[in-house]
Amino acid sequence: MRKQIAAANWKMNCTYQQGEKLLDDILKSKPSLQPQQTVIFAVPFPYLIMASSAVANENNVSVAAQNCYQKKSGAYTGEVSVEMLQSIGIRYCIIGHSERREYFHETNADLAAKTDLLLEMDIRPVFCCGEALEIREAGSQNTWVEQQLQESLFHLPAEKLTRIVIAYEPIWAIGTGKTASAAQAQEMHAFIRGVLAAKYGKEIADEISILYGGSVKAANAKEIFGQPDVDGGLVGGASLQAEEFVSIISALK
Ligand code: G3P
Repeated sequence: MRKQIAAANWKMNCTYQQGEKLLDDILKSKPSLQPQQTVIFAVPFPYLIMASSAVANENNVSVAAQNCYQKKSGAYTGEVSVEMLQSIGIRYCIIGHSERREYFHETNADLAAKTDLLLEMDIRPVFCCGEALEIREAGSQNTWVEQQLQESLFHLPAEKLTRIVIAYEPIWAIGTGKTASAAQAQEMHAFIRGVLAAKYGKEIADEISILYGGSVKAANAKEIFGQPDVDGGLVGGASLQAEEFVSIISALK
């Protein structure tokens, strides 16, 4: 069975002390994980080492960065390179979150470059894709998401593609409390898996974990994660509440 992942995206939240306590509260009350289940904490850069230390003795629990820069190194004040993440043992990195595409104008080409740098350093990209409300209302969400995949990932050979985790995050559901229905999530996830299969074959496509993100809560996680092509979630707001996120972890297949 492909990996089932509960990933917490803290975004720009928590002080160091709040983050330390949140991790402690979650780790001491989370269920023991099945071999196919993984928990990932995507924390702000300043907390990566603290979080890595907190999860060091936990099975199937990892830490992710929330971003990286698309150049190897150099005069890019304030940016964080993939090599810096690799040097502190980070094994996952979110790229292409809609907030970064919107506020920092990241393009599919930027994300192709980030993907290559991460894979070169054996860090697994968590590649975010998803459409805005106007695209969904126009019924062109499939074309939009397919283009995001093609322009950022489809230059990869199959053995590298299998290192990618995909997160489908309909922008209209992020932080709005307006979750996609389980049927909508399954429809897009099945479409994404179909696009992967058309390019790389069904066997490779079936290996890829596709997470859903967008107002995942304890109340809706079981139904959404229970969909055949949903392999867990990328969780924002609800991951900042220990009890809520522990319930979401418990909803994994
Ligand atoms: O990356 C996950 C995030 O975009 C979803 O946020 O608050 O709707 O769970 P939220």
